[in-house]
Amino acid sequence: SRSIRLAVVPGDGIGPEVVAEGLKVLDALGLKIEQTAYDLGATRWHKTGETLPDSVLEEIRGHDAILLGAVGDPTVPSGVLERGLLLRLRFELDHFVNLRPVRLYPGVTTALADTRPEDIDMLVVREGTEGLYAGAGGVLRKGTPYEVATQESLNTAFGVERVVRYAFEQAARRPRKKLTLVHKNNVLVYAGDLWSRTVDAVAKEYPDIEVDYSHVDAATMFFVTQPERYDVIVTDNLFGDIITDLGAAVAGGIGLAASGNINPTGAAPSMFEPVHGSAPDIAGQGKADPTATILSVALLLDHLGLTAEARKVEQAVADDLIERQGAWAARSTREAGDDIAERVSG
Ligand code: NAD
Ligand code: IPM
Ligand code: MN
Repeated sequence: SRSIRLAVVPGDGIGPEVVAEGLKVLDALGLKIEQTAYDLGATRWHKTGETLPDSVLEEIRGHDAILLGAVGDPTVPSGVLERGLLLRLRFELDHFVNLRPVRLYPGVTTALADTRPEDIDMLVVREGTEGLYAGAGGVLRKGTPYEVATQESLNTAFGVERVVRYAFEQAARRPRKKLTLVHKNNVLVYAGDLWSRTVDAVAKEYPDIEVDYSHVDAATMFFVTQPERYDVIVTDNLFGDIITDLGAAVAGGIGLAASGNINPTGAAPSMFEPVHGSAPDIAGQGKADPTATILSVALLLDHLGLTAEARKVEQAVADDLIERQGAWAARSTREAGDDIAERVSG
C-alpha cells in the first residue's frame, strides 16, 4: 500500500512536546508514513510576520491528514495565531465537523462522585466553520468611551444541515441512538430556530433515533450532575468549544481530550489535534500529558480507514490509564509517550 502523507504542525508551547509523542506512537505501528513538518506558529510570526502563507496552505492540501499540536503564545497578540493559523486551516479546508469524543476511561479519576465509565460516553459534534467564529462584526469609535463592538453569529441553512446530518449518521451507528441538540433557542431566536428546525426536519429520516434538546446553560449543569443523559450532541461552534473543555474536565482532564477537524467530503485533508491549547504555564518542562494527542492520532487513523491500528492505539492508552492510576506526576511527557508506544509495538 502507498504511504500516508502526513502534514505535521507542532505549533507553540507544549504543542511540539505532545506532537513528538503522538508521532512516536504512530511510528510504533510500523506504517509507511511520509511526514512534512511545518514551522508555523509564534516563532515564524516573530521572524516573518506570517501566520499561514497561501503557498504553505496549498502544500498542506496535498496531504492525507494533518496532525497539529497547539497554537497561541503570550508574546503574540491574542487572536493573531488562533484566527490566522488554526481557524484559517479549519475554514479553508472546510472542517465543518469538529468531532470531540468525551469518554471516561476505566481507571481514570474524575471529580464527579459515583460516576462510572459507562456514564460518560458522548460524542460532541461541534460545527467548525460558522457561528461566532466566522468573524462577522466590527468595532466603531475604538478606544473611546463610545466604543461599540459587535460580534455576530453566522448560521447558514447549508452549514447547519450538513453538520446535523453528520451527527445523525454518528448517532445511528452508536448503540444508544440518541442525539441532543445543545443551543440557547430561548434567547438566540434566529440562530436557535434554524438549528431546531433543521434537527426536526432531518429527524424525520431517522425514526430510530431519539432526539432531545438542552439549553447550553442546563447542559453544563447536566455534564456534571447527569452526564449519562448524553450520547451524541450536536451544537454550534462556540457552545461546542465551551462544553468540550467541560467534557474534558469531567472525563479525567484536558490532558486526555482528543479531537478531529473533519471534512467528510474528502475534498481536503482533515486535521487532528488535542482539545487543549499551548499551555504556556507548563511549556518546556516535560509536564504535559501527551495522551490527548495520542488519542487524536487514533482518530486520524480511524479517519484514514486504518481501523485496526486505531483500536490498537486506543487500547494502548486504555491499558496505560488503568496502570497509571493517578501516578501521572511521576512521569514526564516523554516517558508517557514511551510507555504507550511500547504497548503499541509490543
Ligand atoms: P490551555 O488548554 O492551553 O491550558 C489550560 C490549562 O490546562 C493550563 O493550566 C494548562 O497547563 C493545562 N493543560 C493543557 N494541556 C495540558 C496537557 N496536555 N497536560 C497537562 N496540562 C495541560 O488553554 P489556555 O490557557 O486557555 O490557552 C493557552 C493558549 O493556547 C492561548 O494562546 C490559547 O489561545 C491557545 N489555545 C489553542 C488551542 C489550539 O491550538 N487548539 C486550544 C485552546 C487554547
Ligand atoms: C479549541 C481552541 C480554539 C477554538 C481556539 C484556539 C481558536 O479553543 O480548539 O478548542 O476556540 O476552537
Ligand atoms: Mn477550546
